[in-house]
Amino acid sequence: SLFSLALLLALLYTKNPYFLQDLNYAITAIKIGMRLSKYKKSKPFYSMLDCFLDKVSRQPHKKFLLFEDSCYTYSQADKESNKVARALSTHANLQEGDTVALFLGNEPWFVWAWLALAKLGCTASLLNNNIRSKSLLHCFSCCDAKVLVAGADLRGAVEEVLPTLKEQGIRVFLLTEHCDVDGIESLTDKIQQASDQPLSPQLRANIHIKSPALYIYTSGTTGLPKAAVINHERLWMATFLQSLAGVRSDDVIYIFLPLYHSSGFLMGLCGAINQGVTIVLRRKFSASNFWNDCRKYNVTVIQYIGEIIRYLCNTPKRDNDRDHKVRLALGNGMRADAWAEFLQRFGDIRVCECYGATEGNMGFVNHIGKIGAIGKEHFLMTTPYALIRYDTEKEEPVKNSKGFCIEVPRGETGLLVAKIGARTPFVGYAKNKQQTQRKMLNDVFVKGDHYFNSGDLLRIDDEGFIYFQDRIGDTFRWKGENVATTEVADHLLMLDWVEEANVYGVKVPGHEGRIGMAAIKLNENMDFDGKAAYQHVKNYLPSYARPRFIRIQDDLVVTGTFKQMKVKLGEEGFNPSVIKDPLFYLEDNKGYVPMTPEIFSSIAEGKAKL
Ligand SMILES: *[C@@H]1O[C@H](CO)[C@@H](O)[C@H](O)[C@H]1NC(C)=O
Repeated sequence: SLFSLALLLALLYTKNPYFLQDLNYAITAIKIGMRLSKYKKSKPFYSMLDCFLDKVSRQPHKKFLLFEDSCYTYSQADKESNKVARALSTHANLQEGDTVALFLGNEPWFVWAWLALAKLGCTASLLNNNIRSKSLLHCFSCCDAKVLVAGADLRGAVEEVLPTLKEQGIRVFLLTEHCDVDGIESLTDKIQQASDQPLSPQLRANIHIKSPALYIYTSGTTGLPKAAVINHERLWMATFLQSLAGVRSDDVIYIFLPLYHSSGFLMGLCGAINQGVTIVLRRKFSASNFWNDCRKYNVTVIQYIGEIIRYLCNTPKRDNDRDHKVRLALGNGMRADAWAEFLQRFGDIRVCECYGATEGNMGFVNHIGKIGAIGKEHFLMTTPYALIRYDTEKEEPVKNSKGFCIEVPRGETGLLVAKIGARTPFVGYAKNKQQTQRKMLNDVFVKGDHYFNSGDLLRIDDEGFIYFQDRIGDTFRWKGENVATTEVADHLLMLDWVEEANVYGVKVPGHEGRIGMAAIKLNENMDFDGKAAYQHVKNYLPSYARPRFIRIQDDLVVTGTFKQMKVKLGEEGFNPSVIKDPLFYLEDNKGYVPMTPEIFSSIAEGKAKL
């Protein structure tokens, strides 16, 4: 009956041209699901670290990490991390279950330190190495860490917050051979003296699948950064994305995204360990060195976030644009126009666009490679999710007469919500019940149900392709980073002449995302001080979060429910010939200067560097 099978397949194919690809993908997904449930049941618990150690014993001499001109094999990486673990265990007196904050840039120490902590049964809290002062202290305090390990290059940032850390009795270690600052201990010398012998698995015997593995900071939609609790189950789920995308063990993956974010750490580093591949680590993204690096290290898989692709397309065309071995690009946020241009220019690279939030309970993968889509539904999808009707002006879901949410018809834009259940848990944020609650919607379709609110507006077409439309609420994206408007506003309010501040994003021609702008109301009889404002935002905010434009208003407009109006202000933009309020522009290394038609046209023409 091979014939009837062929007929059936042909029939399915005409109904769904992606049938075979969907099937293939679904089989991979099922295999992964089976692997995860095996890990869940296994005693002792099989963690990412155990996976790494298995790779070490199976392929000790395979290259694990290439960084600048150094190369470390799997075995060397294992030994390096044994030394770090021993140094920390002895000198910081770490015990299973303790949390250690890592404040490091992309460098091998980051990887060794994390592996070391895993070997000791400790949780790593991954601090963003761009944050400073108050924000740094805030993030540090989110996770109850007793120890901070910082990179040598971040010494200044550590010294700035040292008095507070000392007050709280925090042990601070710097990755340097020698340090004579009171309250900072050197770590590198202690690592060098430590033995590289394996550590006993007994040290981590009580870790189970629901234990926190990591804290990863996310702006979410409101307020200060929050520490998303990544337990081992969540870690495994994110790790499998590389398997779903088709990464093979002979691949070489290029990681330049920050390791303190989930893309770089979970999808990149952990995914690579799971596949047993070689990693090329880079301190920072560089558009001009990107393809040279790919050639130099024989990179076959790259990771991206949307803007990256545009930056690559914006570099001057070269004859050797297609001279590389990259076959797969994995990431999220690639917009349709940049996507098409990228393929046309750099050759036949399979793009695997994924969607998911660090703290979220579900994700999508566009396994077909359809340009512009962030995912595709397939017939074995088991996560209960829905797109619900959303009122962007009132900023809340639309309810029916019974008070329940309304699913949008196919093809229409709606807010993505995903049901919280045993198989799709939402772990939430460390020490922040309020923010955890805020990410949840209750009584969505029936009394007593709970959904994770993604904050993203999506659309699903007839073929099941899923498209990103917009992000709601108080966050906008600029240079691939989420900017929490309330956080920026809080910092502006620290200036004693600012009475009110409303921060929002504005679109700039030729750029992804939105650039920061603030409408502020001055205290009575006070003047705007462009130099002081610049010094202040420079001290407190990473460059992507600093408002590029400031607009002075007599009164800030609020909605009927006393929410600040952001949408309307965002639409009004920053054109000085349209906006009659005083308008200022942040000129790099100079300060806020009055906005002029010249500055406006140089931005509109793409000449100004933003
Ligand atoms: C890249 O591949 C070429 C040819 O296969 C090989 O000669 C070279 O050593 C490789 N480079 C690295 C860094 O592995």
